[in-house]
Amino acid sequence: MTAVFGVDIGGSGIKGAPVDLGRGELTQERYKVLTPQPSAPGAVVAAVCEVVRQFDHQGPVGLTFPGVVVNGHTRTAANVDKGWIGLDAEGLFREALGLPATVLNDADAAGYAETVHGAGRDQGGVVLVLTFGTGIGSALFVDGTLVPNTELGHLELRGKDAERRASSAAKERHGLTWEEWAVRVDEYLDAVEMLFSPQLVVIGGGVSRKHEKFLPLLRAREARIVPAELRNDAGIVGAAMAAARASG
Ligand code: BGC
Repeated sequence: MTAVFGVDIGGSGIKGAPVDLGRGELTQERYKVLTPQPSAPGAVVAAVCEVVRQFDHQGPVGLTFPGVVVNGHTRTAANVDKGWIGLDAEGLFREALGLPATVLNDADAAGYAETVHGAGRDQGGVVLVLTFGTGIGSALFVDGTLVPNTELGHLELRGKDAERRASSAAKERHGLTWEEWAVRVDEYLDAVEMLFSPQLVVIGGGVSRKHEKFLPLLRAREARIVPAELRNDAGIVGAAMAAARASG
């Protein structure tokens, strides 16, 4: 089958690689550039083109975006330039790359990768994938079917946007110890567990690399809490999965 390429657009880096969809793995080492600051659409599109052009790729391209994406249009931009709001991002990428493009929310992409190839595989029922990074991303699955754009990072916690209190950027910003941060993550997990009663919660995002530092500090709860398995590659793999699905 045609090779599929995945690009993960994050607040700090843009990385991409061709993906082996059967195995859920990158087929070549990924290429990364820093996210332009400000992350205005034109600059990000140029950076994405630079990433894709490092490879001899001609098939569909899947791209993640750290905000709400409906029918390829980017609707919110909590942690990126507000110029993205209301854009036909899919059209922009398709035109700039000259290739079929599919755009989806970053946590939804990571969720696809984790539920098919990673920590959530073979798990039925309600599975929630949460990514802790600059923000908090969420992907909610019921028996493998995604409810897109759940945006649970913006639940209200103590009168504040939850991701302002409990993301890994909040840990850095407030100089919290792992113990202090774990208290905030627990409080956040209480809120999502109360609303959705998931059987499994997969914790992803950059900080999942250090899961042994904080997962043991979290309270026991009904949901099983496990670290993501694809770590930094989940977004790339999930983006490619979405692009393959869109191109039939
Ligand atoms: C955005 C989400 C995104 C998450 C992780 C949040 O601020 O609203 O769409 O998935 O950050 O990047």
